[in-house]
Amino acid sequence: MKGITKVYPNGIVANKDVDFSVGKGEIHAIMGENGAGKSTLMKILFGMEQPEEGEIYYKGEKITLNSPREAINYGIGMVHQHFMLVPSLTVAENMVLGIEPKKNNAFFDFDKAVAMTEEVSKKYNLAIDPKTTVENLAVGKKQKIEILKALLRGAEILILDEPTAVLTPQETKELFEELINLKNQGLTIIFISHKLKEIKQITDRLTILRNGRSMGVHDTKDISEQEISRLMVGRDVILEVNKTAANPGDTVLKIENLSFYDMANKPVVNKLSFRLREGEILGIAGVEGNGQGELVEMITGLKKATNGKVFINGQEATKLTVKGIRNLKTSHIPEDRMVYGVAAEGTIGENLISDRYDLPAYNTGLLQKVNDLVQKSNELIQDFSIKCDSQTQQVNMLSGGNIQKVVVAREFSSEPELIIADQPTRGIDVGSTEFIRRKLVELRDEGTAILLVSADLNEVMELSDSLMVMYNGEMAAYFEDASKVDEMELGMYMLGLKKMEVKEMGGAMGE
Ligand SMILES: Nc1ncnc2c1ncn2[C@@H]1O[C@H](COP(=O)(O)OP(=O)(O)O)[C@@H](O)[C@H]1O
Ligand SMILES: [Mg+2]
Repeated sequence: MKGITKVYPNGIVANKDVDFSVGKGEIHAIMGENGAGKSTLMKILFGMEQPEEGEIYYKGEKITLNSPREAINYGIGMVHQHFMLVPSLTVAENMVLGIEPKKNNAFFDFDKAVAMTEEVSKKYNLAIDPKTTVENLAVGKKQKIEILKALLRGAEILILDEPTAVLTPQETKELFEELINLKNQGLTIIFISHKLKEIKQITDRLTILRNGRSMGVHDTKDISEQEISRLMVGRDVILEVNKTAANPGDTVLKIENLSFYDMANKPVVNKLSFRLREGEILGIAGVEGNGQGELVEMITGLKKATNGKVFINGQEATKLTVKGIRNLKTSHIPEDRMVYGVAAEGTIGENLISDRYDLPAYNTGLLQKVNDLVQKSNELIQDFSIKCDSQTQQVNMLSGGNIQKVVVAREFSSEPELIIADQPTRGIDVGSTEFIRRKLVELRDEGTAILLVSADLNEVMELSDSLMVMYNGEMAAYFEDASKVDEMELGMYMLGLKKMEVKEMGGAMGE
């Protein structure tokens, strides 16, 4: 790809004069922060987007790609960040979508579809059961189907857009073994990621994008993690979270036998008990959808518990409203910042101080109040390095990272005693992530109790003082000292392959 420039209809320049090349049998990473233009560049190579400028050469010949179909015909396949499988269909039916084999030129030939699936699965040594329904499969398996789908269509170049974002350590390990195996069979793999460690593990070369521009191509073995992140972000980044051992005090949050049943009367959270203390970060690890979301919603008042109790600073909070719980000095960084975090149409200033209008400090005389609030939001914009023109700007004009900083600034600055941080750094840039993590540790050091839910295993492992794993709505493991936990072992608990005895987890209640 030579001199690729892509401008979206809204005026965003997603790629600017980018050169990119990949050789046969190579695993090549495309790296960059969120919004750097990685997916766009690869969508252009897959014919999904057309560039304003630039040329594409394939096996020495100049080609144009006006649709994914044309790309597939050349042997270019792509597995997207969000899978495009039909959940209600079987694996074999999904495999042949669009290229269905027909019996007597008329009826769908299921047996043939199964045979085709088995053949490609065998050829590339990717085990899959053709007859199971897709919706019952784990994420790792779904991804495997997407890869096989591309291979069945004759892909020689396989583009994977952030394939490990959704995988457990075990699934990632398996994927990497499969990719290396595919590479050994002569396939070319382009791997989009922003995870430094895994890039170092399996890629031969890497191309770094920043703000739509290429920061060059490098041999993976010749470039350090520090150097890669500096090129991605444009400045030196502190990769590790700096923190001293925790010094926990009294219990702030106590969860007692808490359960939540869904509409089918199935327990989504099942008899959960644990406590969180002052000056402690308790991390909850787990594959998404194992009850973490419902737990957070019960603690923050968004859902009512079916059974059990929540205590905040000794006071029962089980039946309180969202506001009632906030009044107990609880802050919440919600998982979905656009739905629960901000009023998108509001200004930055309004969002920053929306919880303060009725505080006495801002309530003496109207004019005084307005001035103080303006001053307070300007302070917060400064303190939390929110990149904006002014506090009167609408919040939805900001980038994801900066919107999250608005939420975090409001939630962290209200002197909380308890913070529920649900995926606090998901989908935001490295710079903002670094900032939010540092703030969490600072607040912990000041005595705040922090419950951290994150699907990012590195994040929970680095930030947490103690750690629990949720599986199937239950506590599958509890570690008093998170620094002693092994990542692979954690993965076993996350996948439900292992579960601690109840008496081993007594530490969770301080027993
Ligand atoms: N369909 C689209 N329309 C308008 N802007 C888009 C579209 N897709 C992506 N963008 C913007 O283009 C930029 C690059 O996006 P993307 O290629 O998805 O980055 P990455 O994959 O590196 O996170 C971002 O600013 C993003 O908001
Ligand atoms: Mg992307």
